[in-house]
Amino acid sequence: MQAHGFSLFPEAASSIAGEVDALYAFMVLVSAFFSLLIAFLIIYFAVKYRHRPGVKPTFKPVDDHSIGGMVLEIVWTAIPLGLSMIMFVWGVSIYFTESRPPADSMEIYVTGKQWMWKIQHMEGAREINELHVPVNRNIKLTMTSEDVLHDFSLPAFRTKADVVPGRYTTEWFKATKEGSYHIFCAEYCGTKHSEMVGTVYVLSESDYTAWLARGSGEGSMAEQGQALFNQLGCGNCHASVVNNGIGRGPNLNGVFGSRVDLKDGKSIKADESYIRESVLYPQSKIVAGFDDVMPTFKGLISDDGMLKLIEYVKSLGLSHGALNNMPPASTMTSGTAPVPGPGRPGNGKAAASAAGPTPGNK
Ligand code: CUA
Repeated sequence: MQAHGFSLFPEAASSIAGEVDALYAFMVLVSAFFSLLIAFLIIYFAVKYRHRPGVKPTFKPVDDHSIGGMVLEIVWTAIPLGLSMIMFVWGVSIYFTESRPPADSMEIYVTGKQWMWKIQHMEGAREINELHVPVNRNIKLTMTSEDVLHDFSLPAFRTKADVVPGRYTTEWFKATKEGSYHIFCAEYCGTKHSEMVGTVYVLSESDYTAWLARGSGEGSMAEQGQALFNQLGCGNCHASVVNNGIGRGPNLNGVFGSRVDLKDGKSIKADESYIRESVLYPQSKIVAGFDDVMPTFKGLISDDGMLKLIEYVKSLGLSHGALNNMPPASTMTSGTAPVPGPGRPGNGKAAASAAGPTPGNK
């Protein structure tokens, strides 16, 4: 962002920015109106009812039960109530919009650490303190932290969200203007908090495709996740062809996004946090029909690696159609062994689905 001299507001460069600014302007105008009104009345009454030498004050007792007094009280209660309800309903509607990423959003992962932002694109590209995004596309950021609380703030897009260790939070935006804008950390996170800044580059669709093509040379996130999956030996249990087709762990095809029945009778949606918890604290939620045999992988997987694993598990979900004679783990009930499938998805399938949303396929 270039310096344009003095400006009260950062540039408005996202689909939500206009609405946020309108609410903000409304609140500033209401506050200004009442501040000025009160200041004016203080001065006006101070002058009008000032002490004059030689004049005796003539205060009359006030009748507290007069109709006029009641009307006045109702008016000065109802008007502020009405104004604050307008702010509340308006604010809640913007909050709901900002907290629900549209289904067609392009996903990007953000990891905060003292004191930098690490960003991973599904296609494999990685960057630090920079975020490249295409213009006019819904972008969903899935974020976590390696150490303490941070907050990924994009003032030009009028959005921000806390970045919390051990959890995944999301934030979404649709940039409407090409250009470069600030990234700030908006949560005090240590001595160099103020240096935890970066730049988001909003590119045209074609420039973004060209930028992505430079890539990392390491394959997509899902491919890197699959390599990690193999390296850690996850497939020894979470595969359909081990032990004559009966895996010691749940089959992972189609798990992501589904509801998983647990041993204790509850069920849970398999989202990013559930996958992470199952890898680091496997004993905390046992899938119905399976035993508590999985060892923890705590300390063996970095936060970046975890995101890749999650992306790999997601890609297994996407290839579910090709493996439809295997039930997703969520349909397994106690006592039912996993049905043998045609085999684990090979590199080809995982890679094909991992290619994921490419720019322009909306
Ligand atoms: Cu990270 Cu402040």
